[in-house]
Amino acid sequence: MTSQLLVTGASGQLGQRVIHHLLNTLAVAPGRIIATSRNPDSLTQLAALGVTVRAADFEDTASLHAAFTGAQRALLISTDALDRPGRRLAQHQAALSAAVSAGVQHLAYTSMPLPDNSPLLIAADHADTEKAISGSNLAGWTILRNHWYFENLFMSLPSALASGRWYSAAGQGKIAHIARDDLALAAATALLTGEGKHTYTLSGAQAFTTEEIAAAVSQATGKAIEVVPVPVDGLIQGMVAAGLPAPLAAVFASFDTNTAAGRVANLSDDFQTLTGTSPQPFAQWLDANKAAFAG
Ligand SMILES: NC(=O)c1ccc[n+]([C@@H]2O[C@H](COP(=O)([O-])OP(=O)(O)OC[C@H]3O[C@@H](n4cnc5c(N)ncnc54)[C@H](OP(=O)(O)O)[C@@H]3O)[C@@H](O)[C@H]2O)c1
Repeated sequence: MTSQLLVTGASGQLGQRVIHHLLNTLAVAPGRIIATSRNPDSLTQLAALGVTVRAADFEDTASLHAAFTGAQRALLISTDALDRPGRRLAQHQAALSAAVSAGVQHLAYTSMPLPDNSPLLIAADHADTEKAISGSNLAGWTILRNHWYFENLFMSLPSALASGRWYSAAGQGKIAHIARDDLALAAATALLTGEGKHTYTLSGAQAFTTEEIAAAVSQATGKAIEVVPVPVDGLIQGMVAAGLPAPLAAVFASFDTNTAAGRVANLSDDFQTLTGTSPQPFAQWLDANKAAFAG
């Protein structure tokens, strides 16, 4: 198999680990990999290894055809453009069009669990991107419905650890977190070996409530965290009072609404099916990363 494998967003945190797994876990020759980024200058180390590095910005549609030229298989990493509803979908559609017109045969995409009819305010972009992919002329595709990263806790927990209070509207909803690095392995595997048209939901091995996560982090760090239940409106008001623009506060709060509705709680064997390995348990990840919470 000698197809050229293209990874978009290769300088992002997930993208870097996808390239790592292609090269080091799956032993793909560097000459088979095309790494694209808005910041190709940040990928000089990959270029030195023999990876083809190209500029690709989904906002710059004119540049995208050249960026995808020669690729038979591609991983479209969803972007982080959350400031305007629909902007991210337009970016993904531009990348999809470029991939199809460049002759990509199989495309993998990083989506989220249960994106359809979701209370999560960023879900529609994923749902509509999935529809654009399944409605395209691609010969094959793999939708990777990535559960939330363990690493998201690096964003939500520092203030809770500092104050001892974790304001939550997630109720008893559970989260089936998974390590970002495991999702990178799954994406690299789908890019290399995916055939046909499949949707995989990639969860961790267990699901935990906010209180259970708080207890585990408290035990690992030695710092008490009390989970304080608040209504969603209260959560939004708190974030706005802390300086966040209201629309963004509503987006962040909708993660809790989504969790409370049980939409990120379901466990799936798809990670094992796709990669042949088990996802890293939360306790093991926490032990390896607890120093990062010590701050
Ligand atoms: N499952 C989860 O818990 C979770 C958490 C956070 C984010 N996500 C989603 O998963 C994606 C990857 O996560 P990450 O941890 O790697 O996030 P990250 O480090 O913030 O990376 C953002 C990614 O978006 C790409 N991007 C942004 N604007 C772009 C544009 N105009 N054209 C092309 N690419 C663009 C970046 O590519 P370059 O900088 O290389 O151009 C980079 O790959 C995120 O973008 C987001 O959609 C999922």
